[in-house]
Amino acid sequence: MEHTPERPLRVAILISGRGSNMQALAQAVAAEALPVDICTVVSNRADAAGLAWARGQGLPAVALAHRDYPSREAFDAALQAHLDALAPDYILLAGFMRVLGADFVQHFAGRIINIHPSLLPAFPGLHTHQQALAQGVQWHGCTVHFITPVLDHGPIIAQGVVPVRHDDTPDALAARLLPMEHQVFVQTLRWLAQGRVRLLADGRVRVADAPQRAWLGATFFES
Ligand code: GAR
Repeated sequence: MEHTPERPLRVAILISGRGSNMQALAQAVAAEALPVDICTVVSNRADAAGLAWARGQGLPAVALAHRDYPSREAFDAALQAHLDALAPDYILLAGFMRVLGADFVQHFAGRIINIHPSLLPAFPGLHTHQQALAQGVQWHGCTVHFITPVLDHGPIIAQGVVPVRHDDTPDALAARLLPMEHQVFVQTLRWLAQGRVRLLADGRVRVADAPQRAWLGATFFES
C-alpha cells in the first residue's frame, strides 16, 4: 500500500548491536511527535544492547538470531515473514550487519533503507573509517540510501560530511561521524513521514522541496 501523509508511516528498524541510530530515530519520533509508527525493532543478535534499550522504551522488539537458522535463505525467509505480517512502509537498516539476499531485497524493493558509514560509492563494506584514513581522504561521511542486491550500493537519499584530521584514528573518526549519522537518518525519516521521497526511474532519488540533501559537520581545523 502506498504511503500517504494522511496516515502514520509504519517503519521496521533492524539492528545488530549498540543501536544508537535506532535510538536517534525513536527519540525524534517521540520528541517531534512525528507521524511514524515503529511497528517492530528486530535484531539478528539476541544480546544486542539496542534491543534492551528498545524494550525499555516499550517498543515492540524481537530477536531473530541468524545463528538459529540453517542457511541465509532460511533466516531471510523468517525475517520476511515477520515483516510481512506487520506490513511496514519502510525497513530501516540502522547498523544491521547482516547481508540480505537478493530475493529478500527484491521482495521489499524500494522500501529498504540503509545507513552506511562512508560517502558511497567510496568505501563499501567493513572498516570504512580505516579505509578512509588509508586513502588519505580529507572528508569522510555517511550515506542513507535505498538498498539493492549489490552490497552498500543504491539510490542515495542523503549524505553527511565530516572533516578528517591528519592525526585521526578510526575510532576518533567514527566518533566524529556518529552524530552526523543520527542527523542524516532522522532527517530522512522526517522526509519519509511527509511522503516527500521519490525513487526516480533513472535510479536517483528526488526529495520534494529539499534542495539540500547533504550536511557538512561544522568543524574546521587550524592549519
Ligand atoms: C553505524 O556507524 C552504521 O553506520 C554502521 O554501523 C554502525 C551502527 O551503530 N552500519 C554499517 O556499517 C552497515 N554496513 P549503531 O548500532 O550505534 O547505530
